[in-house]
Amino acid sequence: MNVTMDLIVSLSKRRGFIFQSSEIYGGTGAAWDYGPLGVELKNNIKRVWWRDFVQQRDDMVGLDAAILMQQTVWRASGHVDNFTDPMVDCRECRRRFRADKVDETDWTHYCAATKGNKFTIKAGEPCKHCGERRTLCPECGKGELTAPRQFNLMFKTFMGPVEEEAAVTYLRPETAQGIFVNFDNVLQTTRRKLPFGIAQIGKAFRNEITPGNFIFRTREFEQMEIEYFVNPHEQLDGRPADEAWHDRWIADCRAWFTRYGLDPANVKLHEHAADELAHYSKRTVDLLYRFPMGWSELMGIANRTDFDLKQHAKFSGKSLTWFDEERKEHLVPYVIEPSAGVDRALLAFLLDAYREEQVRGEKRVVLRFHPELAPIKIAVLPLLKKRADIVATCHELRSRLARRWVTLYDDTAAIGRLYRRQDEVGTPFCVTVDVKTVGDADKGESGDGKVTIRERDSMEQIRVPLADLEAVFGRVLDGGAEWAEAAAAYPRSDG
Ligand code: GAP
Repeated sequence: MNVTMDLIVSLSKRRGFIFQSSEIYGGTGAAWDYGPLGVELKNNIKRVWWRDFVQQRDDMVGLDAAILMQQTVWRASGHVDNFTDPMVDCRECRRRFRADKVDETDWTHYCAATKGNKFTIKAGEPCKHCGERRTLCPECGKGELTAPRQFNLMFKTFMGPVEEEAAVTYLRPETAQGIFVNFDNVLQTTRRKLPFGIAQIGKAFRNEITPGNFIFRTREFEQMEIEYFVNPHEQLDGRPADEAWHDRWIADCRAWFTRYGLDPANVKLHEHAADELAHYSKRTVDLLYRFPMGWSELMGIANRTDFDLKQHAKFSGKSLTWFDEERKEHLVPYVIEPSAGVDRALLAFLLDAYREEQVRGEKRVVLRFHPELAPIKIAVLPLLKKRADIVATCHELRSRLARRWVTLYDDTAAIGRLYRRQDEVGTPFCVTVDVKTVGDADKGESGDGKVTIRERDSMEQIRVPLADLEAVFGRVLDGGAEWAEAAAAYPRSDG
């Protein structure tokens, strides 16, 4: 379905995924806070990415470098000189726009053909009354725009108490440089052979001129980056190894996003044209996702060649090479860089998971998250919250299951409502404890010791002995088994 950004923003706030930063003070459109469910979802994305791309591969290691680095790092990397966007200012209202994006903004127009009436016109379109196109400030519709000037996107700050040039440093605008400057440390301590990669997940900061589209473009965000070092003199698949590895990483990254839930029809590749390439890149391919505002970058996969290691060797005076035993030569590896934004990945997973369905004449909102990404894995619900023995069994069960999976107890509504709430936050399984489970001591009836498991997507319910729960959830949540397969061993239940 076509999901609007407004719908996702509102669901995110209502259910505690994402809040505006400093909201009680009026908020900022450039930074966002992850709430109780958002932080679980975000941690799951990072955990699964780390497991799949670092821990399960024998050619990868991890790193967690400091955000604040020596200022020379940013001269060597080219960020001080090149990490800029062209920007224009309105001479009247002083608003600032990215020169290359100003025509993508809806614009305000005071139309001479209609006695100066004010209109808001769609980006790129002319006024249908006078035929004029935008020349003035799109926001106020009155001011002239200045000629473009280059604006550096790095946040500048000072190390220590003295605000002088020597103390200037920057909040890192990408995690990548922390990897390059540690190349030799990792090589010496791990004794790796090429090809191998170093991965890092962490915060990055960019003073974006026009942040927006919810968490798509913000000034503080997180990246999951890999620098994969290869020997450019080697041949792989009949081509230089860097080119072959580049294609492998593009395919692996695309497969990773679709494996965890993105519809393949919503993901496509974009090959950078020569004039789009960053100063360090030989070839860059972006993975685009069909966001509500149109196809936009989800992540980039660049061939950075030997640019960064050579630059850091030049600026630091340290050798950043690898010794090729076969050829008996020191060489500077080439680098393939898959670089993904955590927040953008989260937004894409959220959008793709959203469904509205009709169930018995009522609207059901459901987030069909991949079970590994779902913030809550299991909800334990009492059918009757007035029955102390049912509630006690639920609490016992919750703490038992919580040892292995994020498990929640909720008794604040009737069962139908509780199911809907869990659907709306994407919980794959609900466990319901009822009278049959515990029996009725007053009537001398003993319970059957079984509970109902309800699966989110099919809404199918099965009756399972309490003692079997870890085995069933172990299969579907950790073992990758399909629900239908795991459920087949148990009788269906009507609830
Ligand atoms: N080290 C390479 C690098 O940083 P990039 O294309 O500038 O490349 C990589 O950024 C990814 O980081 C993007 O594809 C996007 O997912 C994420 N990203 C970049 N700027 C962002 C911003 N302002 N807000 C949220 N995510 C951002």
